[in-house]
Amino acid sequence: MKQRALLIILCTLIEIIDFSFQNFVYHPYTWLREIRQLQNSSDCNDNCFQGQLEHDFLIWRQKGRIDYESFQATYKHGIHYQIINGKIYRQELCLFPSRCTGIEYFLKLFARDLPNTEFVLNVHDHPKVSKYSEPIPLFSFSKSNREIDILYPAWSFWAGGPSIQTEPSGLGRWDLKIGSIRESAFRTPWADKKNVGFFRGSRTSSERDPLIMLSREKPHLIEARYTKNQAWKSSKDTLGLDPAEIVTFEQHCPYKYLFNFRGVAASFRLRHLFLCESLVLHVGEDWIEFFYPELIPWFHYIPVSTSLEEVEDLLKFLQENDEIVEIIARNGKKFIEEHLKMEDVTNYWRRIILAYSELITWSVVRDDGLILIT
Ligand SMILES: *[C@@H]1O[C@H](CO)[C@@H](O)[C@H](O)[C@H]1NC(C)=O
Repeated sequence: MKQRALLIILCTLIEIIDFSFQNFVYHPYTWLREIRQLQNSSDCNDNCFQGQLEHDFLIWRQKGRIDYESFQATYKHGIHYQIINGKIYRQELCLFPSRCTGIEYFLKLFARDLPNTEFVLNVHDHPKVSKYSEPIPLFSFSKSNREIDILYPAWSFWAGGPSIQTEPSGLGRWDLKIGSIRESAFRTPWADKKNVGFFRGSRTSSERDPLIMLSREKPHLIEARYTKNQAWKSSKDTLGLDPAEIVTFEQHCPYKYLFNFRGVAASFRLRHLFLCESLVLHVGEDWIEFFYPELIPWFHYIPVSTSLEEVEDLLKFLQENDEIVEIIARNGKKFIEEHLKMEDVTNYWRRIILAYSELITWSVVRDDGLILIT
């Protein structure tokens, strides 16, 4: 009997040790190791984003050309543009006029340097070319690892982003946002920021629910609330509580850890969050814009699983490793400030249109159905 009791005690003890090892040591140890291993990473050099460009054009470069038939198959998915003798022409109907404005701002900056060319830009949120279908050379602003659209910089660098209460004319003017968010970051240096996670957004999917629930249980770890979306009817749409006020990007800066979720596709929010010089917690890695792949997880930001199961432990870990975390926040901001300026965006636009134009096999003939843009 005595031996049996001893055995039970021993087993329980081992279980307790094992349990606390898993919960208390395992995750933070892995996280710290990731961070240490990557601490000497460096930002991309002059050829920033080249990897994504090559990835997107791989199929076409392997074929050696973009043929007219493939191009024609893109018509029904987007807006047809022609550039002839430096002038830009576009089909008259643009489903989202401000998105076309946000695109044409960039095209105008370098159209004069381009050979005659024509292409179709998808202005919907969602990409269209599944990697399991016949490839077509369609440009889209975002995709997951299941699509092979060619990525172009989102219209919202200039115009046509979502119009919300705080951005009544639609999110855009990245150049101005860089200035105003940076100012807000300046007013809230790291030491003054609140040691909690922060999220404000609408309930586009239930994926975000665990974060909101955690916030209600543990407000000392996170401040996360749902705002109204267009379809809001009752508090059911905001998980049982009244909707929170929408906050500006500038108002994110007083918080140390900022969450980014995808929306329908990649979220325009991400690049803005970095400018606060707070730590960006990026949930999920499926959806990208052209610049995402140059961001190094654990060096520029902290990756978070879509299940959010580790979030509570992770937030505690961040609170306990303040100095390390501050460095990552600084790395992230530095990357965006140095490599995602308006001129970098313009430059990427030029590179993709040139790469595409080198591959087309037909000589472009002015389509009389298109209108002159400039
Ligand atoms: C990073 O650089 C420092 C200083 O040069 C060095 O001591 C450290 O071993 C490096 N860490 C890694 C993981 O390479």
